[in-house]
Amino acid sequence: MSDTIKKAGVVGWPIEQSKSPIIHGHWLEQLGIAGSYIKIAIAPESFEQDIRQLIEDGFGGCNVTIPHKEAALAMADVVSDRAQAIGASNTLVFKDGKIHADNTDGVGFISNLKQLAPNWDATLGPALVLGAGGAARAIVYSLLQEGAPSVVIANRTQAKAQTLADFFGDQVTAIAMDQVADVLGDIQTLVNTTSLGMVGQPDLVLDITGLPKTALVTDIVYNPLETDLLKQATSLGLMTVDGIGMLLHQAVPGFEAWFGAHPTVDDILREKVLSA
Ligand code: ATR
Repeated sequence: MSDTIKKAGVVGWPIEQSKSPIIHGHWLEQLGIAGSYIKIAIAPESFEQDIRQLIEDGFGGCNVTIPHKEAALAMADVVSDRAQAIGASNTLVFKDGKIHADNTDGVGFISNLKQLAPNWDATLGPALVLGAGGAARAIVYSLLQEGAPSVVIANRTQAKAQTLADFFGDQVTAIAMDQVADVLGDIQTLVNTTSLGMVGQPDLVLDITGLPKTALVTDIVYNPLETDLLKQATSLGLMTVDGIGMLLHQAVPGFEAWFGAHPTVDDILREKVLSA
C-alpha cells in the first residue's frame, strides 16, 4: 500500500521553520491525492549521501532550502536554464534515474504578481530591486525573462549589487542605496528583496514618493504581511503586492512534478500559511 503513496519533502538545516509541508499538505488534501510531504533535516556534511538515500526510499523529489541550494545544483544530472542562471536550486525531481534541478523562486515571484496585480506589465518600464542576495538574483532573472527593459539593483554592499549586475549584462545596473531617489521617477516595478522590514530586523527607510503613479511596489517580506514599504505605497495610491504569494507559488512546479496535478494558490491556503 505504502508503495502507491507518492513521497516528497523539504530538506534543510535547520528545517523546523519550513512552511512547505503546510502548502503541499493543503494541496494533497484539496486534490484528494495519496501523497506525503515531510520535513527532512539534512546536515551539510551528508547532503549528497542523504539525497541519494531519499531516491532509494522512493521519493519523487524534494524542495531544498538553506543552506543546500548550491549543493543541490552541483549534484544534479540535469539543470534547468533558470536554475543555472540563478546558480541555485530549490526544487529537485528524481526521474528516470536522474536528479533534475530547477529553481522556482523567480517564477513564483512573477506568478504572484500576475495573480494579485493582473494589470502589471514588466515591459512597461525599468524595475528597481533592493538587495543583492539569492532572492534578488532569482527576481532579477525573472523580471528580465518577463521583458523588463532594464533592472537597477541597489544594495547596502554596492559591490554585491555590481557583481550581480555584471552577471546579467547590459540591461542591469548597480547603484548605491543613496542614489535610489535619483532613479525612482523612471521605475515601474519596485521590489524589496532585503530582510529589512521583517519582524526583528531594522526598518527599510526609503521615501518612495518619487515613483510614477503607475508603479507597482512589492515586498518579499511577509512577516508582517503589510510592511512599511507597502503601507507607504498604498498611501501614495500605488499598486501593491505582498510577499506571501511568492512562497506559495514557488511550490507549484514541484507539486506538479511529484504528485501529477496542478494546484491552485487560493485564499484558504494563504490564510492557512499565515496563521501557522
Ligand atoms: P536572500 O537569499 O534571502 O536574498 P541574503 O543572500 O542573505 O538573503 O541577502 C540579504 C539581503 O538583504 C542582502 O542584499 C543584504 O545586504 P548586504 O549584501 O549589504 O548584506 C540585505 N540586508 C540584510 N540586512 C540588511 C541591513 N541591516 N541593511 C541593509 N541591507 C540589509
